[in-house]
Amino acid sequence: MEEYMSDFLNLCKMRQSCRGFSEQPVEHDKLVQCVEAGRLAHSGCNAQPWSFIVVESPDIVGQVAQCGQQLKQNAWLETTKAFIIILEEHAVLSPVISCFLDSQYYAKGDLGAATAYVCLEATAQGLGSTIIGLYDRKKICELLQIPIEKQFGAVIALGYPLNDTIRTKKRKAFEDIVRFV
Ligand SMILES: Cc1cc2nc3c(=O)[nH]c(=O)nc-3n(C[C@H](O)[C@H](O)[C@H](O)COP(=O)(O)O)c2cc1C
Repeated sequence: MEEYMSDFLNLCKMRQSCRGFSEQPVEHDKLVQCVEAGRLAHSGCNAQPWSFIVVESPDIVGQVAQCGQQLKQNAWLETTKAFIIILEEHAVLSPVISCFLDSQYYAKGDLGAATAYVCLEATAQGLGSTIIGLYDRKKICELLQIPIEKQFGAVIALGYPLNDTIRTKKRKAFEDIVRFV
């Protein structure tokens, strides 16, 4: 068990946002594996309030990349080889819980977990990934025929990293954010 734990921590250390992908296309099976990991994420009442769109055809990938170009810093998106878009679906909670809570109460956290699993599986597959925060949601909806009212969980850009140097993580100090009682 300890061995598994240390492997997982190493995977967490190796996952980093990748802002520049090589010309190498991403294999369909690797994208399937990434979605499979997301699908296995935990969720409140096991409601699984998500669905996944895998964008792999180069023409459409290019068009989705254009939708993320509002920020100059995201110009590297042009090199993206695939996207996984996670959509928020209606969460059906058990009747006992839904008496107390709005059914979407847990959904954001659930989508965050699914997003993390997708990105970590991408790392395990040797792929780079980056979650994109700013994009033209309306244009992506039109392009991919997503109902306009649909909430997005995440837009994840994927490809083989141009540069595979693992950067030192910039994180708050452990002792500043943890309290053992
Ligand atoms: C919700 C969200 C939105 C993000 N949006 C962008 C983005 O638009 N462009 C980008 O280059 N990185 C984006 N990132 C990546 C973060 O900048 C990155 O996760 C953070 O700096 C930590 O670095 P690391 O992922 O390399 O560990 C986003 C991350 C999250 C979780």
